Amino acid sequence: MDLSGFYKRTIEERLRILQQHVQLSDEEIALLKNSGALDLPRADRMIENVIGAIHFPLGIATHFKINGKDAIIPMAIEEPSVVAAAGKAAKLCLPEGFSARADAPVMRGQIQLMGTKENALDELKKHHNALFKEAKKYGAPLEPFGGGLKELKFRGLESQRGKIVIAELFVDVRDAMGANSINTIAEKLAPFLVEKAGGTMRLRIISNLATERKAYAQATWKKEEIGSEAIEAILDGYEMARIDPYRCATHNKGIMNGIDAVALATGNDWRAVEAGAHAYASLDGYHPLTHYKKTQKGDLVGKIELPLAVATVGGAVNTSPTAKIALKIAGVKTAQELAMHMACVGLANNFAALYALTTTGIQAGHMKLHAKNLAVMAGAKGNEIDQVVEALSAKGEYTFPAAENALKRIRHGK
Ligand code: MEV
Repeated sequence: MDLSGFYKRTIEERLRILQQHVQLSDEEIALLKNSGALDLPRADRMIENVIGAIHFPLGIATHFKINGKDAIIPMAIEEPSVVAAAGKAAKLCLPEGFSARADAPVMRGQIQLMGTKENALDELKKHHNALFKEAKKYGAPLEPFGGGLKELKFRGLESQRGKIVIAELFVDVRDAMGANSINTIAEKLAPFLVEKAGGTMRLRIISNLATERKAYAQATWKKEEIGSEAIEAILDGYEMARIDPYRCATHNKGIMNGIDAVALATGNDWRAVEAGAHAYASLDGYHPLTHYKKTQKGDLVGKIELPLAVATVGGAVNTSPTAKIALKIAGVKTAQELAMHMACVGLANNFAALYALTTTGIQAGHMKLHAKNLAVMAGAKGNEIDQVVEALSAKGEYTFPAAENALKRIRHGK
């Protein structure tokens, strides 16, 4: 699939090109043209006290090849350059592209008990089989899809408020994010735990640190493609993230630029994804979610590993009108596939950021987009936009008056 030059097309043309690769109905195209119009009655069913709806630009990142297959990546984000950066990184690792995999979609739920009997943990362990059977009943709706309860574990923590006994459920939630199933099982099981352990039940909730549900991706950027100097520069940039948390936060933020954008486009809970990613990065000391090394041949291998609790069914995935279209564009059916694509995008955005930051810097690209906005604000139309951008870039002056002056000069043929 060659989507080169997609960015140069009009929106109308882009939609037509997209239709050559993804079967989108006229209704879906109309919805996209109407900014994904989330009508108010629908919005009113999604949250409380609705007074309107807001939009984000929805774009696609091109040039992605994942596990040997071309992929189009839907991204919803307000920040310029992120979509282009993902596509650029993806193009630079062709023809191989990315390889990716994802764990089974197992989520953890936690039940907190306080003021339990002295031997609560022993009691719970003694009745493990009966409690497991009880919990399994509540996870049964997932079983026809191949999911359901997998494990039930108990542990204790000493705290300032006394001993906390924790029961942890591990549930294969298949293509859902899992919060509803997990929270239901946790709430239903909790009274049975109190029966055996005594005390009082407190929290009964999913854990967003989804260490059982990680996604992994890898790509190689060849020295013939990006040059040995850039590879050294990227490794230097990566090294700083490895040892300095102030840099590492920004490094990981750049990864999440891409991942969150796909989460938002596909109606996924990006706060859960963020919480999981940063908590995971903090295990054993805050560290980058990506890893880079040079091969013996001198190429650069990048890897990413992070928890990705994302869904292709349920929640806003079902109710957001554009989420279903975005999933269709992504060409993913299962939550595992979606997680793999997201891991690739995270790696791509991180590579692109390191590449730009350690070589040319990112301001040139940002400023070009800013100049385009200024040109449009100044009233430039059609070809005039590019001419104003050129004039601003030539002088390195990115202000509204400069854009107005440039436009005046262009219109007067000067
Ligand atoms: C900006 O949104 C993201 C970057 O700061 C990421 C990075 O520094 O690696 C460019």
